[in-house]
Amino acid sequence: MNYHEPVLREKIIDLLQITDEGIYVDCTVGGGGHFNSMIKRLHEGLCIGIDVDQDAIEHNTNALLQQEFIRINEMDDILIFKRGDCYAALAHNNYKYLDQILTEVTTMLGYTKTKASGILFDLGVSSYQIDEPEKGFSYMQNGPLDMRMDKRLGVSAADLVNGMYEKELEQILREYGEEVFAKRIARGIIAARKEKPITTTRGLCDAIKRSIPFYYKNPYAKTFQALRIAVNSEMEGIEQAVKAVDTSLAINGRVAWLSFHSLEDKIIKRHFVQNGKYREIGEMQMADKEEVDRNKRARSAKLRCFEKVLN
Ligand SMILES: C[S@@+](CC[C@H](N)C(=O)[O-])C[C@H]1O[C@@H](n2cnc3c(N)ncnc32)[C@H](O)[C@@H]1O
Repeated sequence: MNYHEPVLREKIIDLLQITDEGIYVDCTVGGGGHFNSMIKRLHEGLCIGIDVDQDAIEHNTNALLQQEFIRINEMDDILIFKRGDCYAALAHNNYKYLDQILTEVTTMLGYTKTKASGILFDLGVSSYQIDEPEKGFSYMQNGPLDMRMDKRLGVSAADLVNGMYEKELEQILREYGEEVFAKRIARGIIAARKEKPITTTRGLCDAIKRSIPFYYKNPYAKTFQALRIAVNSEMEGIEQAVKAVDTSLAINGRVAWLSFHSLEDKIIKRHFVQNGKYREIGEMQMADKEEVDRNKRARSAKLRCFEKVLN
């Protein structure tokens, strides 16, 4: 299975300047494309992968075992692996707890060094998550209207769609989806759910379709994106993660951010550019035409990298 095609992989690995004995954290391990490239450069050192989706943790566990890593420890939601002098860890958790995860893993391994040399965030969802109808992210295939990346979360997209006030729905669609027909779609959802609760992705598509003008092309993407961001509290997660980077990154260490939405980029810029403790490495980069032709998802990716210069 092709879980996910990593975006700007070589550029990110170069920017993170992986050294043999460093500690690296991939906060969004997903299909492990970036994670495996990091591990390939490490012969000693430690690489930690974090993901809220248990499927990603299982996928990467299998990949590590196939690469001759041995599982040596397990505590709470953290698995530790070893191959020669190189350690890997997988944490089923939210990246907003990056600082706690890093402390737990380094303590378990008895490290004196507890800060990361490099950290990566590749925001949003993986292709696997979108293509899996049961996860409910896709408007292309019918499935339960779920959208929780972490199944331990209490509130699904169906709960929001069937439980929110019209004004709240409209605000989410406008803010997180930049949907120009937010008002009409919110009203259409309320009308549809009065007939019967909206519980499937197809049910939501039908409600959207009935609300928008016939000439509106690709009418579902923005509403689906907005609900996904709301269900997973993505903006709050990033707000907390940027602070967790402050306490987790070593001096001269680097953090790379791959973002896909202007709100994400805004939080990243506000924190790292105005903070005074970081310098931006080069300018924001995007994928070239060749990569975009190969991988449509790369089209809206923005890559920024910052180096910590002051504690
Ligand atoms: C774009 S994919 C990452 C793909 C990965 N870089 C690769 O090469 O396969 C994003 C991943 O981040 C995870 N994710 C999203 N929000 C998260 C959060 N707050 N904490 C931890 N993982 C998160 C998703 O479950 C998904 O697997």
